Amino acid sequence: MLRRLHADQPDSFAFTPANLEWAKAQIAKYPEGRAASAVIPLLWRAQEQEGWLTRPAIEYVADMLGMAYIRALEVATFYFMFQLHPVGSVAHVQVCGTLSCMICGAEDLIGVLKEEIAPEPFQLSPDGKFSWEEVECLGACTNAPMVQIGKDYYEDLTADKLREILAAFARGEVPVPGPQNGRYAAEPLSGLTSLKEHEKGREAHNASVARAVALGDTVKRIQGDEVPVLKPRKATSGGAAKNAAKKDAKKAGAAEGSKPATLDAPRDGKADDLKKIKGLGPALEKTLNGLGIWHYDQIASWSDAEVAWIDANLGRFKGKASRDGWVAQAKALMG
Ligand code: FES
Repeated sequence: MLRRLHADQPDSFAFTPANLEWAKAQIAKYPEGRAASAVIPLLWRAQEQEGWLTRPAIEYVADMLGMAYIRALEVATFYFMFQLHPVGSVAHVQVCGTLSCMICGAEDLIGVLKEEIAPEPFQLSPDGKFSWEEVECLGACTNAPMVQIGKDYYEDLTADKLREILAAFARGEVPVPGPQNGRYAAEPLSGLTSLKEHEKGREAHNASVARAVALGDTVKRIQGDEVPVLKPRKATSGGAAKNAAKKDAKKAGAAEGSKPATLDAPRDGKADDLKKIKGLGPALEKTLNGLGIWHYDQIASWSDAEVAWIDANLGRFKGKASRDGWVAQAKALMG
């Protein structure tokens, strides 16, 4: 399906203070130089804040993570979870139009969405509360046909059942997700043929539905304060606390780093081929030469603090010296 940014975009985007704090904590989960790994949670948070994913939001997240805009745009346009157009304020319905669902009545469901919401996908309903789109298989084929509304699945649908569900959302209710034809989960329509003893005394809902009911966030958007922000662990007392404090002090020292001994030029005009170190390509070799590092024995002699200094001075390759174990590799290359 063709996915394009919406023609009308707001002028700017910024995380709320709570979301900004949360986003920084997410980035802190990844090693130096790997902040881009946080792109999906941050884009998702931006979408939860605004209701849909705007171009300024994508660029804001890319800036936060030091990514080229095109890289963040690639992620946003690839995943259907990212809404690139404004969607209904109450619910956006994603109807599966792939094989099993199509055979089992997806076209009837699409007919209902066209009648009840809007004739075209991504068109808002007249009251602005609903929108819909057709998506590829959502992996619930055994319970076809189905739709995803907000974060949950409504399965084993009929046209009438879908109409009822939309009416309930319009009244401000959140219908119970899961199979809508009395099935417990994905067992045969005619009932279980084995493991029947598991039917006795089971809970009212299967585990997924029970969890969705407990969370109650089917169409609720994240406000910014639900997920506790990760805080640095506090030292408590005793030996464990002392060890933690020691580790912190060591880390702090290493993070500051100290500059290793460098040379103005390679000894005897003959530099070692640093590219023999795994993960160290021509660009990094140039960077190291620029810093005054030309030989394996220089690298092999670095202390932890010196590795930290080098790591911090590798530009866009920050952190590579420790990650790829350059010191051990250089020692091995020296024989
Ligand atoms: S075909 Fe619809 S969920 Fe797989």
